[in-house]
Amino acid sequence: MLSATSRALRIAACRVPPPAASTAVSPMPEASPSRSTQIAARARSLSSTGRVSYAINTNPNPPLGKKNASNEMPSRIGLIGARGYTGQALVELLDKHPNMDLCHVSSRELDGQELKDYTKRKIIYKNLSPEEVAQLDKEGQVDCWVMALPNGVCQPFVRALGQSSSLIIDLSADHRFDGTWGSYGLPELVQRSKIAQSTRISCPGCYSTGSQLALAPVLEHLGGMPTVFGVSGYSGAGTKPSPKNDVHLLRDNLMPYSLTGHIHEQEISHHLDVPTAFIPHCASWFRGIHLTINIPLNKTMTSRDVRQIYQDRYAGEKLVKVVGEAPLVKSIQNRHGVEIGAFAVDDTGKRVVVCATIDNLNKGAATQCLQNMNLALGYDEYQGIPID
Ligand SMILES: NC(=O)c1ccc[n+]([C@@H]2O[C@H](COP(=O)([O-])OP(=O)(O)OC[C@H]3O[C@@H](n4cnc5c(N)ncnc54)[C@H](OP(=O)(O)O)[C@@H]3O)[C@@H](O)[C@H]2O)c1
Repeated sequence: MLSATSRALRIAACRVPPPAASTAVSPMPEASPSRSTQIAARARSLSSTGRVSYAINTNPNPPLGKKNASNEMPSRIGLIGARGYTGQALVELLDKHPNMDLCHVSSRELDGQELKDYTKRKIIYKNLSPEEVAQLDKEGQVDCWVMALPNGVCQPFVRALGQSSSLIIDLSADHRFDGTWGSYGLPELVQRSKIAQSTRISCPGCYSTGSQLALAPVLEHLGGMPTVFGVSGYSGAGTKPSPKNDVHLLRDNLMPYSLTGHIHEQEISHHLDVPTAFIPHCASWFRGIHLTINIPLNKTMTSRDVRQIYQDRYAGEKLVKVVGEAPLVKSIQNRHGVEIGAFAVDDTGKRVVVCATIDNLNKGAATQCLQNMNLALGYDEYQGIPID
């Protein structure tokens, strides 16, 4: 067993800060739109086959890739809220990850039962109290704590961990608006080198991950408030019974809810720094989100112009795919990225409709959590994430 001091040394030794990205990253409009257009144009070139190819330097925040892989030791993980949907999705990913060693799983309901679907070692669920979590941490048994708890529940655990040097990742909304809490873990839009150096990371919400990725590239061309119409499968509502995960109520049905002021409306608006309307709905399928986004433009554009902006912005991203047609939720289920497409421009040329799909339990939660863990624990950002 490692002492707290040796654990801190071990983590410090493992975490060699990655090189800072050459450009500060912000999804905010750039000061000079014409400059980004020029850079994009320079970076695009016709290949010998006549196809346009995209150079990675159109992406202001490219993946760090293997440059971030400085840690050769496995990391020990404690998962609080392991019984839930996001916890289970993370267990599945950790099971296949070469460097993540899940050691402790907490659940009140499954206390004493064996964790299923984890093959690396036998683990028994425990109903861990905040004090027990703090004790395990002091003993140096854990390098990273993941809180997969409902909103408003993680504070006693976070407080008990205090100034611990362990990495803490919060999947709930509790720290998403707290600028003092390390990083907001949306690696495609937040400077990756900052996430890599954080010991406290707040994971974005599922709807808001898809919405921000689908809006960020056109912020400088916004001509009014965008509106995101979102439909989620019922796993988005967690395992606690509610009308939003009542399969009988949802059969042959679509349920609108929180049509103004939803926490993800606040989150999207806050992190993009652009007021955004978000109107969520719940549907009868289990996992996967569809977003249809209406975007007023401040100048006339063609569908091709808009698509090009997205392709340039996300060049080199392994978890964001820009497609021509509107993506389908059926095709994103159980997959790990986001698909963005449609780019339907109306007759005036000043309104575009963009569609995006995301699996709420993967890139909307567990996959994004693992991306952040990889960055902050010193592994390749995509290690253990199935890429297709
Ligand atoms: N579902 C999604 O699509 C999604 C996507 C992104 C982010 N999130 C966020 O991720 C978090 C987890 O979501 P989820 O869907 O996995 O929820 P969930 O399925 O309802 O699971 C919640 C987990 O927390 C535990 N728990 C509940 N109340 C607790 C308490 N008072 N003290 C200790 N443990 C408690 C539960 O286990 P026991 O009851 O057995 O203790 C369970 O393991 C939420 O904050 C959610 O907003 C969810």
